[in-house]
Amino acid sequence: MVVGTGYVGLVQGACLSALGHTVACVDIDEQKVASLKNGVVPFFEPGLDILIQDGMKQNTLAFYTSQQQAVDALGTVDVTFVAVQTPRNEDGSCNLGAIKAVVTELGTVLEEGLCVIKSTIPPGTKEDIHTWMNNPRIRLASNPEFLREGNSVEDFMHPDRIVLGTETKEDANLLCEVYEKLEAPVHIVSVETAQLAKYAANTMLASRLALINEIAIIADIVQADIKDVEQILGEDPRIGSRFLRSGAGFGGSCFPKDVLALADMAARKGFESLLIEPIIKTNTRQSDYFVQKFGDVKGKRISVWGLAFNKDTDDTRESPAIAIVKQLVAAGAEVCVYDPQAMENAQNDLGDSVQYADSMMDAVQESDILTVLTEWPEFQQADWALVKNQVKEARVFDGKNFLPRDMMEEHGLIVEGIGLCHKEHRRPQSTCE
Ligand code: UGA
Repeated sequence: MVVGTGYVGLVQGACLSALGHTVACVDIDEQKVASLKNGVVPFFEPGLDILIQDGMKQNTLAFYTSQQQAVDALGTVDVTFVAVQTPRNEDGSCNLGAIKAVVTELGTVLEEGLCVIKSTIPPGTKEDIHTWMNNPRIRLASNPEFLREGNSVEDFMHPDRIVLGTETKEDANLLCEVYEKLEAPVHIVSVETAQLAKYAANTMLASRLALINEIAIIADIVQADIKDVEQILGEDPRIGSRFLRSGAGFGGSCFPKDVLALADMAARKGFESLLIEPIIKTNTRQSDYFVQKFGDVKGKRISVWGLAFNKDTDDTRESPAIAIVKQLVAAGAEVCVYDPQAMENAQNDLGDSVQYADSMMDAVQESDILTVLTEWPEFQQADWALVKNQVKEARVFDGKNFLPRDMMEEHGLIVEGIGLCHKEHRRPQSTCE
């Protein structure tokens, strides 16, 4: 059984069924379950709809609105994965409300079994969960996910590693069987180690982004080129090239919340981290710094390409793009937005404060400035001659430092990002490279 059909739970359920298990997915959102029963995925995640439709056809995947229904349908439930939201509280701590509700119910619907927490929750919560389950015959495990939205199915099927935090070796063996078809190193650890490893992974990645983003601002100041710096850093195997792309800040539902929860967790144990909290402060400053580059935007028409926090997703949670658009609107700009997938979610965030275009080229019509805020490949491949004809000031602000600058400049566009130095300061043309 998988409880929770969000970005994590649905991928877990669909992929487990593709691995040959019989899976019942549960969600209390009746509308969502009704749409899933019709094979309609409530959000955009490449490859997920096909897995779900296949699973339903093979009778290895079904959807229910209560745990009891799922248990009745399955008969025996060996493993229950809990993948519900763990949002952050005002004070940065992790909100376990949904976990509590789910495991309390689980304790009553299951006679015995293994409850595996997929949601990201802090170490030190094991006893609380046992208390909420109030069923000594249900064991507990932690199996954190390392899925990137937009790439989740691929990440599930080809993981870098599988982390199994269990209380007994029998439970570790059971979970090894669940994942036996996946080829990846398996780490059998304690529940606390698994939980901390997840927070550590997200905080490490977020800190890396915070650092390269600050270095991009420094590149601006000293007129160096951050794209060349990124490449030079990435070729050092001790640093590595992945997760080193600078821009106007990172987003998503995980990094900001997990970073703050790790700092909060340490503080509650009496340890004040000097490194962790500033990661979030630098991230906010990064998007503020980017917006300042636009200068006075009052009365200007600005077109925005990209609203999702990442390419290949429709998710706008904590998206820097949304924060940037709000700032431009507040500064008096008339903003017209476009995203290939995230228009509906963006509408919930931005309401009628902006105009919504049907295509990227519609968005730029008659605009003064264009800004690109999500790394969708179609933005990179835009017809820059057409863009030049539409964008009156011929300025393009690249919030992801990913657009083809040289080509755009050949079309007469001025490209600005963070740490993208002007042409005269860039690398000299040399034949020795
Ligand atoms: C992140 C982690 O990468 C996953 O391993 C983890 O499982 C997940 O959080 C989670 O805890 O659920 P996600 O937030 O979905 O995944 O997406 P990422 O690909 O990590 O991107 C996060 C943000 O960083 C995005 O805004 C992205 O644009 C930004 N980013 C990423 C950069 O600015 N530069 C980069 O080089 C890479």
